[in-house]
Amino acid sequence: MMLSDFPLFPERASTIAGDVDALYLFLVLVSAFMSVLIFTLIIFLGAKYRRRPDNEIPEEGEPSALLEITWIVAPFFVFMLIFVWGARLYFKEARVPDDALDIYITAKQWMWKAQHPSGQREINTLHVPVNQPIRLTMASEDVIHSFFVPAFRVKADLLPNRYRTTWFQATKVGRYHWFCAEYCGTNHSGMIGWVEVMEPSEYQKWLAGGTESSLASQGEILFQKYACNTCHTNDATARGPVLAGLFGSQQMMSDGTVVKADENYIRESILNSQAKVVKGFQPIMPLFQGQINEEDLLKLVAYVKSLTPPAARGPGAVKPLESPQSFGSSTSASPAQPATTAGTNERKTP
Ligand code: CUA
Repeated sequence: MMLSDFPLFPERASTIAGDVDALYLFLVLVSAFMSVLIFTLIIFLGAKYRRRPDNEIPEEGEPSALLEITWIVAPFFVFMLIFVWGARLYFKEARVPDDALDIYITAKQWMWKAQHPSGQREINTLHVPVNQPIRLTMASEDVIHSFFVPAFRVKADLLPNRYRTTWFQATKVGRYHWFCAEYCGTNHSGMIGWVEVMEPSEYQKWLAGGTESSLASQGEILFQKYACNTCHTNDATARGPVLAGLFGSQQMMSDGTVVKADENYIRESILNSQAKVVKGFQPIMPLFQGQINEEDLLKLVAYVKSLTPPAARGPGAVKPLESPQSFGSSTSASPAQPATTAGTNERKTP
């Protein structure tokens, strides 16, 4: 039996795996060093300062100042190193690259569902291309679950009431175990799957094998089914705010706060339109809480995201406010568009 049969770390198959392992190895080494030091000192000092004559009296005296300073300052720097190192890694994991491919995950007791932007759906399997950053937008239908792929060193909780995003970039073609890492009921241990990392050409072939229409167009069908299009007509004088160009923009609310229109904002606005009312509009939209499941919500969000005006697109462009074509920002705080803002204020809804 070889030592390599008992690896310290699972296989490394993502860009971040090496960094996580390095930090972890450092923690293990510091802990091991301190454990050995402490036990050695206990035994050594215990022997050295044992009581010899029965009536021996301990020596008076303070430990040297240098010794005291050392044992205060040295751990301080070691802990600061761990903090800075860990924080840098945390931010690296939290910041999703701009060119990431979007995949949506919903979890429920006790299965995983993945939806690709092209409309492809799968259960307990996730197909992804190698060497491509993947952004996962995730929500739970019921209790808290946790997405965990040890080979990628990625773990993120899925919450029942909001989206959580995480990302990874697989570096090796292969098949990797996918676990639920949050106890979620009877079959928690069975809530497992596989991530299939494929060559990009294979992934394209796999995508082409699907019969579903794109996620955004499935969302468009729902948009009509729930009659969203009767108020959100993409006309600045409509009863609902214009949605084209909304995603990623800053929106001014009726209470004066400015909110970034991200996935969570759109999700919340669909379920509970009263939570954040866009300035210049009345809270007349019906509440869809409990009427639309997470999978359909993701489709609607994908549809709203797809409504970005072409001119505002670009790497990381979150600037529809400045764009002349940004008819989506009628309620924005931007003074560049007095005409549309005035139009919004005049509008009174029944
Ligand atoms: Cu889902 Cu544990």
